[in-house]
Parts: sequence; structure tokens; C-alpha cells
Amino acid sequence: MRIPLIAGNWKMHNTAARTRELLGALLHELGDYSGPAEVAVCPPFTSLAAAAECLQNTSLVLGAQNMHYEEKGAYTGEISPLMLAELGCRYVILGHSERRQYFGEDDALVSRKVQAALRYGLVPILCVGELLEQRQARVTEAVIRIQLAGGLAGLTPQQVAGLVIAYEPVWAIGTGRTASPADAQQVNAYIRQVVAEFFGDAAAQAVRILYGGSVNAGNAAELLGQADVDGALVGGASLDAAGFAAIVRAAR
Ligand code: PGA
Repeated sequence: MRIPLIAGNWKMHNTAARTRELLGALLHELGDYSGPAEVAVCPPFTSLAAAAECLQNTSLVLGAQNMHYEEKGAYTGEISPLMLAELGCRYVILGHSERRQYFGEDDALVSRKVQAALRYGLVPILCVGELLEQRQARVTEAVIRIQLAGGLAGLTPQQVAGLVIAYEPVWAIGTGRTASPADAQQVNAYIRQVVAEFFGDAAAQAVRILYGGSVNAGNAAELLGQADVDGALVGGASLDAAGFAAIVRAAR
């Protein structure tokens, strides 16, 4: 049984003060929600400490949106896995398409980050997804296969079983254009098939594969109802407490 994960990717939104307000509202909206989904929020680095405080003694967990692969060193402006672990992060989003697109992250770098996260007990949420041109050229599967081969390189089947992969078609992120439930299911099933090929069936059955890209309260139930969609990575809609809570409740 894979426990569904609903993770909010706040991106570069919410100061520490706003974080306290939003999490207060979210906890209120969720009330005594007790599952089945695990709920994570991924605020910007500067709001992690405030968020950790708000989430104490709640069932919500904390994630970060990026990290460096070294524990410490002369890397001006970077944040290490040790620092995230100390703040109580459970998850870290790695290889998000915005990191790949605007900050030049490639699969080799993402792979180093994935391995570093695991060394510090963080669970990577490894993002993969194709560009619009790639979908139109019908190379979605080839693109995803390369991203998986790169991002998961060197991991053991046990490590892969414990991580989270998020399928996020780049053309669906922040655009209001969602993959159809059938398309999301098709690619998520393909991801599971590739994981089985690389790491065996047990890892493929255990790994959680999310969908991300314009998920909202209106489309979440149908997306989350797909057999290989084990949760959602939610950007824009996670900035609204009621909307995000509705997505959490859509997970069965
Ligand atoms: P979106 O972002 O929900 O705003 O499309 C998803 C993501 O980038 O993780």
C-alpha cells in the first residue's frame, strides 16, 4: 500500500509572517483530518523555521524546495542537506523544472543532490517532465527515461523504494493547463515501468509517483483517482488554505 502524498510547493512565496498565517489557516481548514494522505508543505528556506514551529504536534510535515549536495563549504548562497535536516525537513524537492530551466540544473547535478539528500535522511521528491515541444514531438517517454536514468543513478532498489517521484509536465506548470487524468496515468505508469526495469518490481511497487501541474480543488479527485497517481505536487493552489485542504481531502 502506497500512502498518498499531497505536497505543497510554495515556490518563492510567503514570508515567515505570511507562513504563520497560512499554516494557521490550513490547520484550521484541515481540522482533525487523519488521512489517508500524508500532507507536506515546502516553504522557501527563510520560512522553514517558522513553518517547523507551526507544524509542531501536527501531522503535517515539512519539505524544502532545493538544496546543495555538500554538507558545508565555500558555496556562497547555498543551503545544505544537514541544515534542512536540522530544521526538521522530511522532504526535499529536487530537479524541479524551474531549477532545470532557470538555474541550469542537469541530471548529473540532480543525481548528486538525490544521493546527498538520502545520506542525511531526507526523502527526495525527484521531479521529471517533458517540455511542450517534446510532447508534441512524441518524445515524452524518452525524455522521462533519460531523467530517471540520470536522477536515480547509483541508488539501490531499497533507496528507490523509499523515494518520491513527481511527474510534472512542464507545459502544465502554472499554466492552468492540466494533463488529462488519462495522460497523467499513462506517464506515471510508464515511470513505474522504468523503475521496475532499472530497480526491480518491489521498488517499482513501493515508490510513490505524484502528478504535478495545475492541480486544483476542481481536478484533484479525478487525477488522484488514477491507479498510478500516488499524490500531487501542488504549486499555485497550495497558497490558498481552503483550496489546498480540498485537494488533501480528494486523496483516497
Ligand atoms: P502549479 O505548480 O501547481 O502551480 O502548476 C506545480 C509545481 O511546479 O510543482
